[in-house]
Amino acid sequence: MPKPFSRISPACTIVLGAQWGDEGKGKIVDLLARDVDIVARYQGGANAGHTIHLPDGRQFVLHLIPSGIFHEDVTCVIGNGVVIDPVALREEIAMIEAQGIRVKGRLFISHNAHLIMPYHKMLDQAAEQRLIAKDGSAVGTTGRGIGPAYEDKFARKGIRIVDLLDRDSLREKLRKNIAEKNELLEKVYGASELCNVDKIISEYEVFDREIDPYITDTSLFLNRAIAEGKSLLLEGAQAALLDIDFGTYPYVTSSNPTAGGACTGLGIPPMAIRRVMGVAKAYATRVGNGPFPTELLDATGERLREAGHEYGATTGRPRRCGWFDAVAVRYTNMINGVSSMAITKLDVLSGLDEIKLCTRYERTSDGRALEHFTNDLRQLADIRPIYESFEGWQAEDLSGAETREDLDPRIQRYLDALEREVECPLEIISIGAGREETLSSSVEFA
Ligand code: GDP
Ligand code: IMO
Ligand code: MG
Repeated sequence: MPKPFSRISPACTIVLGAQWGDEGKGKIVDLLARDVDIVARYQGGANAGHTIHLPDGRQFVLHLIPSGIFHEDVTCVIGNGVVIDPVALREEIAMIEAQGIRVKGRLFISHNAHLIMPYHKMLDQAAEQRLIAKDGSAVGTTGRGIGPAYEDKFARKGIRIVDLLDRDSLREKLRKNIAEKNELLEKVYGASELCNVDKIISEYEVFDREIDPYITDTSLFLNRAIAEGKSLLLEGAQAALLDIDFGTYPYVTSSNPTAGGACTGLGIPPMAIRRVMGVAKAYATRVGNGPFPTELLDATGERLREAGHEYGATTGRPRRCGWFDAVAVRYTNMINGVSSMAITKLDVLSGLDEIKLCTRYERTSDGRALEHFTNDLRQLADIRPIYESFEGWQAEDLSGAETREDLDPRIQRYLDALEREVECPLEIISIGAGREETLSSSVEFA
């Protein structure tokens, strides 16, 4: 049934990570996708791992395909800002189609998106190994070639999806790139294995045939959809504190998961954005290295990891766990202009005697209070979190609740304080991985 074209513009809702990633963006986008026409990914690559639990019990982890794919009326778009690993994409399409879910005709890929090549992954891993050996200062990347692929994009030597369509020029570009990367791998990183030009060319020529039906000018497609009054969800990967400009640099990813990235990563105008939803866990996690002020290196942190199954959806690495950091989320809400939040994994806090919420920082050197987050690593090394403490609750206290108001008063007290501290309304409360395990999902798209 066609959706009502009730609005002309603005029509887009951005859903993005407000912490360090893995907030449950996949669950929230899948939940909201029921009511929209298009879901579009705007940055990152197969470093993302977005987990979705379908009502029939099936569970999927998506790395590149937008989290709207499980609603058959929804069209999915991979925008120009995404870096595409053809191997990962091919596997993901096959995995989804094997489950009886149609992808062809429902997924469109920007002709301007850059490709991740085998040498990007090799360079990513070699650079990390070198930093580990040198001084232990590795970023802790996912090893998916993200940084090197964006490096090539900005150095104006990347290979784009559109290049697949012209074999002669693709071969020439690949030869040039591979010669340079092999030199880097051999002379800088001392790698024993180098890239084989012919092998890569023949692999990418196969990909060209497979991907052809999906390629289009997605910016044109999306702008037409906006003009027709369709509703769009723009799905961020990673999160604001991993943003290349606003995150805890250099412990960040190489793209802009923040709201501005949605416009540049899709080729749509800022005026088309109607709202920005920030997704955050009811506590905090981080995978990879870098500052994490509220990290718990004790039994409580361990408990959060086990109760929340906090192991990376892409790499399987244990995630670092800690208390909710409202100072950091106030900052990401400001940067992104977040208009409402989805708080996930509230259920994971059940069973703790005490729950803490970081409301401000204090400088350890002079005791001065800091209300604002900073991404300056030197300053972050000199702060300690100041907490407000809350009485815990049991799992039973969550069951049976259909709205936030049904929750036990102790849980409401925590949520009210969190809402006050992040200075933004909580529109969705998630109490489990399934679509139905959600409170207050009263988001109106019409
Ligand atoms: P994303 O990268 O932001 O999409 O998040 P991930 O999929 O990497 O990690 C979130 C994990 O939490 C996934 O395993 C989800 O299935 C799970 N999840 C999402 N929301 C909830 C929730 O409210 N409660 C619980 N217990 N798990 C959740
Ligand atoms: P989703 O979309 C959590 C982290 C890595 C590393 C840093 C840089 O599932 O939330 P990269 O491979 O991007 O160069 O690594 O960013 N990272 C993520 N952490 N969730 C993610 O994605 C992440 N994608 C990258 O662990 O610290
Ligand atoms: Mg994830």
